[in-house]
Amino acid sequence: MPPSKPCLARLLTVLDDSLADFSLDINRVIAPLLDAALRESPDDALLREEARAFSWNGTRFLQQIDIGAFSSRLKALTFDGLQEKGKGSYATVYRAVCRLSGDVITLKKLKLDRESEGFLGTAIREVSLLKELRHPNIVELRDVLWDNHRLYLIMEHLDRDLREHLDVCPAASALHNVKSYMYQMLEGMAFIHANRVLHRDLKPQNILVESDTNTIKIADFGLARCFTPPVRAYTHEVITLLYRAPEILLGGTIYSTPVDIWSIGCIFAELVNGVPVFQGDSEIGQLYQIFQVLGTPSRATWRGVEDMPDWQHCFPHWPSKPISQVVPRLCPQGQDLLSQMLRYDPSSRISARQALQHPYFHDLTASTLSGQGSLDPSAPTTVPSEPLSQQSQESAASQSCQPFPPQRRLYPTRSAVAAIAAGR
Ligand SMILES: Nc1ncnc2c1ncn2[C@@H]1O[C@H](COP(=O)(O)OP(=O)(O)O)[C@@H](O)[C@H]1O
Ligand SMILES: [Mg+2]
Repeated sequence: MPPSKPCLARLLTVLDDSLADFSLDINRVIAPLLDAALRESPDDALLREEARAFSWNGTRFLQQIDIGAFSSRLKALTFDGLQEKGKGSYATVYRAVCRLSGDVITLKKLKLDRESEGFLGTAIREVSLLKELRHPNIVELRDVLWDNHRLYLIMEHLDRDLREHLDVCPAASALHNVKSYMYQMLEGMAFIHANRVLHRDLKPQNILVESDTNTIKIADFGLARCFTPPVRAYTHEVITLLYRAPEILLGGTIYSTPVDIWSIGCIFAELVNGVPVFQGDSEIGQLYQIFQVLGTPSRATWRGVEDMPDWQHCFPHWPSKPISQVVPRLCPQGQDLLSQMLRYDPSSRISARQALQHPYFHDLTASTLSGQGSLDPSAPTTVPSEPLSQQSQESAASQSCQPFPPQRRLYPTRSAVAAIAAGR
């Protein structure tokens, strides 16, 4: 679709292209484009106001401008129809529409003010990692805008997160869908790990779903970090309790990619059972939940466990339950894969790349070859979605798996970002 305001779209493109051009003659290059954009929208008072704030006198700029800031402010004017999707500790997430392209996008507003200084590192981490990690199963960062003490990440929009999806769409836990979700999650994860990044906060709320295509994308890289072998000590205050690996719960500060695999294993069991597999309400409670299902670890099941900082010799001794009792609906191959993801000893836990080769996924290849391209685990990454069959689409729809609810306009104003920036 051509942009509704071609002159403004052109101005924004040239501003983006000029970000690193420090010798840019703004009155030669930018002024004519701004003039055209203003003529194109004679009633656009906000655009005129922004231009004036950057020393525009009606025909030229009176002084040099910060191209990045100017571009951010103009882009902010193009988002409309804001709808709050979620609020975390350092970010608020909105759905918005870009008036130029008609695209629905996600706008994640990160606070960078004095009280939240500690979050600056988090924000920088999220931006820099997401910029590098381009993959069909990782949410796409499209742009970054800033405005005084706020940073806005503009991302592709998906319908909902996996937790919401499980709640509103019972067909999501149909076993063939679980297999497709797991495959996609592992594809994204294998790519992340191959790029020497740990996600460190995998949970259903940070996995996004596009329900039309059943596509899965990993999101929220706020706690992610790069690693370089050999592994070093990292903070152990990571990963939401229910998805936290036992080596972190036992005080380990040297950990690596297996912590993400543990979380994916927990998500796998949750997809099958509909509820989290280990539901502790404290670190020790979480450990005991794990011990009661997998058996209390010992030197035999985890070499070195007794040397972990928080290991106690007085931990109760629970026997392990057969995996078939933990996820009775899952096929034996799926149960085998899950048990390899939930191994105590991180060094014997399966990797994402190995998991993609597991026989559990072999029939996924055949079932998707007809429509969706190759799911060959060794093939370069594709979007390995397994769309709901006609029948399950119907049953999903009848089970209230509705598309995103009609958009509620919260701000009649033209500028969504201006509205949130003003704290409304
Ligand atoms: N790109 C997106 N598309 C749709 N919903 C999203 C998107 N990004 C985030 N969300 C929703 O917003 C919630 C919070 O976003 P997230 O990036 O996880 O921020 P936080 O760091 O606050 O947890 C997610 O759990 C999800 O429900
Ligand atoms: Mg999150």
